[in-house]
Amino acid sequence: MENGLGEDTTVHWHGIRLPNAMDGVPGLTQPPIKPGESFVYEFTPPDAGTFWYHPHADSLVQMGRGLAGALIVEETEPLAADRDVLWVLQDWRLSGDKQIAAGFGSAMDAAMSGRVGNAVTINGTAPANQPVRAGERVRLRLANASLARIVALRFEGHRPVIVAIDGQPCDPHEPEDGRLVLAPAMRTDVVIDMQGDPGSRHDVIDDFYDGLAYPLTTLAYDTAPPLREHPLDAPLALRRNPLPEPDLTRTNRQQILLQGGMMGGGKLAGVGGMMGMSMPGMNGGAAWAVNGISITGDGHAGMAPQFTIERGATCHLIVRNETAWWHPMHVHGFSLLVLSRNGAPVPHRQWQDTVLLAPKDTVECAFVADNPGDWMLHCHVADHQMAGLMTLFRVT
Ligand code: C2O
Ligand code: CU
Ligand code: CU
Repeated sequence: MENGLGEDTTVHWHGIRLPNAMDGVPGLTQPPIKPGESFVYEFTPPDAGTFWYHPHADSLVQMGRGLAGALIVEETEPLAADRDVLWVLQDWRLSGDKQIAAGFGSAMDAAMSGRVGNAVTINGTAPANQPVRAGERVRLRLANASLARIVALRFEGHRPVIVAIDGQPCDPHEPEDGRLVLAPAMRTDVVIDMQGDPGSRHDVIDDFYDGLAYPLTTLAYDTAPPLREHPLDAPLALRRNPLPEPDLTRTNRQQILLQGGMMGGGKLAGVGGMMGMSMPGMNGGAAWAVNGISITGDGHAGMAPQFTIERGATCHLIVRNETAWWHPMHVHGFSLLVLSRNGAPVPHRQWQDTVLLAPKDTVECAFVADNPGDWMLHCHVADHQMAGLMTLFRVT
């Protein structure tokens, strides 16, 4: 990787279980790469699936200006589909003259929902119609590379089946209410049998935010006769990746409390007073905390781990969202088996590296700490991470 920017950077390989020295956290796993300098990232990805990469320095601006890419590791036995399609979604805040608006890192964005924009692109371009053929089976890899926007996609007239989440195969299942919810950093692989009539059109609607539904794009059917009479009869289940199985009878139990953010009446919950900041969320100040501690920025030297796990032990991680905001919590270096949400078991054996918590949600996960090093755990709403919703743990 050659740094052609005018500022320091690093590359983080999101979701890939790799050696700690390749994880791309400045100050923690490597020194930042200076302008004009280069760094060799070298690793063998153990898992097949849909991953992505992005800078981990000045994240809000570097990612907000578009630095992100998908990284697909192919399966040895690929899924039977007629086409393999990738949609990397990005959200932009554009000013009146269609330029990227200034004002990255405002105190408002930091303490509320983050820098949600006003223009969503697919693979870097304004979404045009998506040409499809009647009868075909499409594997669609969805990745949300936005800074802050959460999407909930509905494919009108279609029934997508989720086959993998965050790159990890799950039991194939249809999403709840037919909505595919992807917060920043999350990926979902779905299989869609194109059962519409030749020549027909069907919108793909994003209706995550109340009252703000909009058509993201349109599936536009070719007029050609259906490719086949009946949907393909091939299995949808992907071969599982070699993830170590958590031993839930013997765990290292850790609790992570997400705190802070704006409350009703423009009051900041706790953190501001706690940290003694006059303007929380401003100029790198803290608006959020994990277990009472705010680590701001993208990663730096001298960060103390929140907890330590012995190598090979199963970590039982409980994440409680005490705030009034949504947070996609991301763990570097591991995939988490999601056990329960608000006490209810999570079905389909889902492994995720980024778990979305609604306001006041509690999620329980487990993972085997088989990879030594210091690993980040943070909210992937870039403004939240920068303003303190970040911590790290150590595997010895
Ligand atoms: Cu994709 Cu630390 O992040
Ligand atoms: Cu990551
Ligand atoms: Cu957050």
